[in-house]
Amino acid sequence: MSKITIAIDGFSSTGKSTIAKQLANKLHYVYVDSGSMYRAVTLYAMQLEYISKNYFLKEKLVEDLVNIELRFKYRDDLGYAEIYLNGVNVEKKIRTLEVSNFVSKIAEIPEVRRKLVEQQQEMGKDKGVVMDGRDIGTVVFPNAELKLFITASAEIRAKRRFDELIKRGDKVTFEAIYNNVVERDRIDSTREDSPLIKADDAIEIDNSNLSLEEQFEKIYAIVQSKLNAN
Ligand code: DC
Repeated sequence: MSKITIAIDGFSSTGKSTIAKQLANKLHYVYVDSGSMYRAVTLYAMQLEYISKNYFLKEKLVEDLVNIELRFKYRDDLGYAEIYLNGVNVEKKIRTLEVSNFVSKIAEIPEVRRKLVEQQQEMGKDKGVVMDGRDIGTVVFPNAELKLFITASAEIRAKRRFDELIKRGDKVTFEAIYNNVVERDRIDSTREDSPLIKADDAIEIDNSNLSLEEQFEKIYAIVQSKLNAN
């Protein structure tokens, strides 16, 4: 059966990466979390003090982009790849609320997007890839055979992210997470370069009231019909 490209877009904390990982494992496809790439660039900017609460040295970051190398290394035990920033595994460091608070500012920069989109397209050039993000069906793979647009209410998404961070021991409040989710929705969908919008040919799935199993069944049935039609 020939391989297809699956593009999954949607607002933050909709569970895109969970469904993307499940599909990639089931189909033996490569999974790419494009958001982790924007997060890793954000972490780099924070480490070099190009960005803080009070300032943003955008030009410095743009000049320095050539020195940022991102790689994914697959981990058998986890069943997905972890991201490396200049040779260092940053998978855990990029998931903090601090990175989440700065990432939309970094993702607005056209030079950053150009660099990351190029790398994403290269990773997907042989198909057999499931990639999640904000512009995968619109910009990265406009010809993807299957495009999904995942949605859920802001309260439900904030609760999911809150539970995740509390579970790993982060000290956060629900209010801070909720505000971050709403603010990122706003910035991600109103930015000039590649805003988050549903591609015309994307299938919308609202998973507010779906269990993980129900969501997987529903989406896997759609994937099967695409594979059969391909
Ligand atoms: O999926 P995530 O929440 O980890 O993504 C982090 C941020 O990166 C998100 O707020 C917007 C940005 N992003 C993007 O602009 N384009 C993508 N393809 C993926 C993420």
